[in-house]
Amino acid sequence: MLNTHDIQAQLSARKRNFSLSRELYSDPGVLEADLQHIFYKEWLFAVPACELAKPGAYATMQVGAYPVVIIRGSDNRIRAFHNVCRHRGQRLCSHATGSTQKLVCPYHQWTYDLDGKLLYAREMGEGFDAAAYGLKKVHCIDMAGVVYICLADIPPPIAELAQTAMKYLAPSALQDAKVAFSSTIIEKGNWKLVIENNRECYHCSGSHPSLCRTFSDNPKIGAMDGPDSASPEIMAHWQRCDAAGLPSRFVHQAKMQWRLARVPLLGNAESYTMSTKAAVTKRMGTMPFNDAGSLLMYHYPNTWNHFLADQAIVFRILPISATETEVTTKWLVHKDAVEGVDYDLENLTEVWMNTNDEDRQVVEENQKGILSPAYEPGPYSTIQEEGVIQFVDWYCNIMQDRLAPRPALAAE
Ligand code: FES
Ligand SMILES: [Fe+2]
Repeated sequence: MLNTHDIQAQLSARKRNFSLSRELYSDPGVLEADLQHIFYKEWLFAVPACELAKPGAYATMQVGAYPVVIIRGSDNRIRAFHNVCRHRGQRLCSHATGSTQKLVCPYHQWTYDLDGKLLYAREMGEGFDAAAYGLKKVHCIDMAGVVYICLADIPPPIAELAQTAMKYLAPSALQDAKVAFSSTIIEKGNWKLVIENNRECYHCSGSHPSLCRTFSDNPKIGAMDGPDSASPEIMAHWQRCDAAGLPSRFVHQAKMQWRLARVPLLGNAESYTMSTKAAVTKRMGTMPFNDAGSLLMYHYPNTWNHFLADQAIVFRILPISATETEVTTKWLVHKDAVEGVDYDLENLTEVWMNTNDEDRQVVEENQKGILSPAYEPGPYSTIQEEGVIQFVDWYCNIMQDRLAPRPALAAE
């Protein structure tokens, strides 16, 4: 198992524009470092807010060693807590989702309000100070319908992303959406391989026959150098969206931790369906036309999303082990859209169910090959895999920075 020093050595030895070493994709010590320095420090996508539609609705997630519960309070605010009882540490909520009036520990029934306050603890004797034993808070923000959490004591700045998300996601009106379907799969691959695979479409023509009906695998579609620079079909799409008041132009964080841009689908395709037509008859929010394309949004380390006129698809990844990653996909539609009337579930989900499974296979085969002693890092295509290079650079820079020894505080 690699220690900090070994990881630093591997990061510094990496060849620019080449894939990473076998250990960086498979070693448990590296996963621990990834958790400590990235997953426990950065903002992570948790759930779409509409999944917690009513007070008391909750969802749980496991981030490395941390069980977390995200719950809507009676004041309608969404909060996140460590899913750990303050009595003897029992996990409070064991289900993936649910709804409750109070958070009652299943062990000895300590009872917490939806805002985390300890309301009731049986026979704790004189002098017991309930106020000192509220649930521990996890930072939580609802950005226009996408809820992010952060486990760090002091989270990194989120205002720029929040402002951008508010503007770009507003036309989708995610507060008026519902989760039509949710799928969770485990991919037997390192979380970085899952992201890398997502950041390129070099593999699309070979792997994704159903997605390729609507999504262009032209690398130029992703190669956007700024809000006024893109390939001609994207520029034309942006002009049309501008005229309809739909925020679409490429916008990103300085170090590319996140990016949003609306891209047109192939031809006049409307949605990710086999027929290329909208899957849902009711459009989301104030989307002005069916063929508005897909607003692509990613945020490292754990999410990418597609917001279309008729649906939104949100993806969340969480590492399970050095070589296993949980991938959760949710399909959102207008809350008034009725299954079987306004949409057919199979038609809505087919393309991305196929695509996820195809991606799972390539990621798993990728991991198997990397585990071979014969593996050595290979060159990324600078034409096709610009997004992968950019992710790997982001990862290596952040890890090198955070693993670097801090200067010792001067002694008095
Ligand atoms: S551990 Fe929760 S009430 Fe005892
Ligand atoms: Fe893919």
